Amino acid sequence: MKGKKLLLIMVAGAALCACATRTSQAVVKEEPTLKSVLGDKFLIGVAMNTFQSSGRDTNGVNIVKKHFNAIVAENCMKCQTIHPQEDRYNFRQADEFVKFGEDNGLTVTGHCLIWHSQLAPWFCVDKDGNNVSPEVLKQRMKDHIMTVVGRYKGRIKGWDVVNEAIMENGSYRNSKFYQILGEEFIPLAFQYAHEADPDAELYYNDYNMHFKGKRDAVVKLVNDMKARGLRVDAVGMQGHVGMNYPDLADFEQSIVAFASTGAKVMITEWDMSALPEVNRTANIADTVAFRKALNPYPVSLPDSVSEKWNKRMAEFMNLFVKHSDVISRVTAWGVSDGDSWKNGFPVRGRKDYALLFDRDYQPKPFVKDLLEKSITK
Ligand code: XIL
Repeated sequence: MKGKKLLLIMVAGAALCACATRTSQAVVKEEPTLKSVLGDKFLIGVAMNTFQSSGRDTNGVNIVKKHFNAIVAENCMKCQTIHPQEDRYNFRQADEFVKFGEDNGLTVTGHCLIWHSQLAPWFCVDKDGNNVSPEVLKQRMKDHIMTVVGRYKGRIKGWDVVNEAIMENGSYRNSKFYQILGEEFIPLAFQYAHEADPDAELYYNDYNMHFKGKRDAVVKLVNDMKARGLRVDAVGMQGHVGMNYPDLADFEQSIVAFASTGAKVMITEWDMSALPEVNRTANIADTVAFRKALNPYPVSLPDSVSEKWNKRMAEFMNLFVKHSDVISRVTAWGVSDGDSWKNGFPVRGRKDYALLFDRDYQPKPFVKDLLEKSITK
């Protein structure tokens, strides 16, 4: 009798399990999302602007909640915003952003602690505008990092500790941090960040990482810091790419090289400009023609260009998936095309098409393919 009962329970249990599996599969099949399709490979993240993290851009917010499981602040944690004066911090927007992440169960990345750009003007100089001494700068870096990282201790998964410190040829960028402290400013920043939140992951982040000089220098930097016992969890490859650069093979070589340090690799600011690179060539001599050549698609992207763009984005995504054993996060630098910084950089007032969702918040064809493929799998 006991045996029969047990059997009955087991059969009922198995039926229930089968049913549950079918239901969860059915949910995925009904509406695949980026995170349901890619979530077992790496975190799939997005940069949020303050219009979104405050909830005002409801269309943008819906996309974030539906498709992504990680977020990074596009601007509001940068030094000039969060620490505009030596004795004044402005945490309002950063608080809102972190809370958004928590409320929605998203992995939150802090961007960024030490960067030459969008740096508060007071940070490296005295009241006469002269560079401060190494001791003063160290103290300021320490105060800044301890305060910002300390405020969000335990709530932020990891920080872009240093951003864009190495040039394409492998030399150090001649920033004020470098002028005043030399190469040591990077390990110092990592040391302070670790002191501020010992559980936080720490990242070195940079663009044009496919250049051999930069690749080798970043590998050396990470290896040197690790050899000194400093925590470095990942190398962030920004991934601001274009239609003609970089070669995927060069990009791949950098993924492999960075992973060889034992750190993870993150694609931290992925977008692809659909517009031509900015070079005034001899055959576009007059200004009107030049401007037109710079902003060639002010209404919409022609099909031929769109096809090329989507094909290339799919190739990048395939590359990320191929290396998902070492890539821990892929983050798009913005929600939809209308939000993208590429509309204003490196030339103001252009209309670009750089992101995963278009201006109507619709997934681009390569994203649609990715989602649809998961149904037919
Ligand atoms: C960009 C933002 O997207 C813009 O809104 C802002 O005006 C300038 O900065 N590398 C980085 C990012 O690490 O912080 C930059 O973000 C893009 C390049």
